[in-house]
Amino acid sequence: MDTIIGKEELLEEAGSLIRAGQLVAFPTETVYGLGADATNEKAVASIFEAKGRPQDNPLIVHIASADELKNVAREVPESAYELMSIFSPGPLTIVLKKQNGIPKITTGGLDTVGIRIPDHPLALKLIRSAGVPVAAPSANRSGRISPTEAEHVYEDMRGRIPMILDGGKTRVGIESTVLDLTKETPIILRPGAVTAEMLAPFLGKVKTKGGEVLVAEAPGMKYRHYAPVCPASGVKDARTAKEIYNRQLSAGRHPVIIAGEELLRDVPGQYAVLSLGSSPESAMGSLFSSLRKAEKVYDFILLQWFDAEEYASLQNRIEKACGGNCF
Ligand code: TXA
Ligand code: MG
Repeated sequence: MDTIIGKEELLEEAGSLIRAGQLVAFPTETVYGLGADATNEKAVASIFEAKGRPQDNPLIVHIASADELKNVAREVPESAYELMSIFSPGPLTIVLKKQNGIPKITTGGLDTVGIRIPDHPLALKLIRSAGVPVAAPSANRSGRISPTEAEHVYEDMRGRIPMILDGGKTRVGIESTVLDLTKETPIILRPGAVTAEMLAPFLGKVKTKGGEVLVAEAPGMKYRHYAPVCPASGVKDARTAKEIYNRQLSAGRHPVIIAGEELLRDVPGQYAVLSLGSSPESAMGSLFSSLRKAEKVYDFILLQWFDAEEYASLQNRIEKACGGNCF
């Protein structure tokens, strides 16, 4: 199968493809999604196949406005509408009880469904043009680094899907916050750019699953994620980074340090580095593309481990990319 890449001009064709049960990758403000008609079992099955994704990992259903909530969810609490009026379109996914029209294959067998309104003009136009809710996981092969550029999607999905809509680099860079509203106390199943602190004023109390997830409540969280093709390990400071770097170099490897500006200030010019900038936003925006760049040129990645609370969502991805390893 040929994979066409294009922009706005492909929108109508993209909408028809989705309606016809085909897959279209599209940009959102977080990462690129791999979209299909969420109500079409066969179409959704082909998402799992194209990604090589385990069947028990539910997909997020994308809609274009809060009016469509009732088509995909039932017993929608007032708080869902309130949160959507504040955070949507945007990087927040809300888990609610699913409507009958959403088949179990879309929700990984669950009676609940994750729903989100993405904040990207191409994504919203695609959903409207398709005229159906669009199920979409991140458009990477299962276990790989989430794509933040059309080119990344092409690397992973070439020949497997008919179309990629190119909307440039994604703005946020890590996936949406997943908030479960079906429990007595709302709980964050996956951290993201919308934090517990931001949500708390509207919910009273929000629980987060800090650290290791033992009970895999977001079914996706138990799987290996964001793995580069070469080994990656965390480092907490410049001294350790340089030490390990030199050890790897002596062993004949080509290491690279991926870190924030502050750490890199203490790393001299002869070291290969990729900068994550100097704020949580810039680091979120560049983590996945830096990993994809690094794995092409280098064969050992040293990735900064962040302790500060503002970096918690990013650190969640970093730990997964490193398989939990830190020097
Ligand atoms: O930013 C994003 O959320 C991107 C863009 C494309 O929207 N999508 C994304 O999808 O990251 P995916 O499939 O890579 O991750 C979805 C996560 C998984 O961890 C999954 O287990 C969880 O959301 N999830 C989805 N539906 C759920 C449900 N009903 N209950 C619990 N967790 C759910
Ligand atoms: Mg994903």
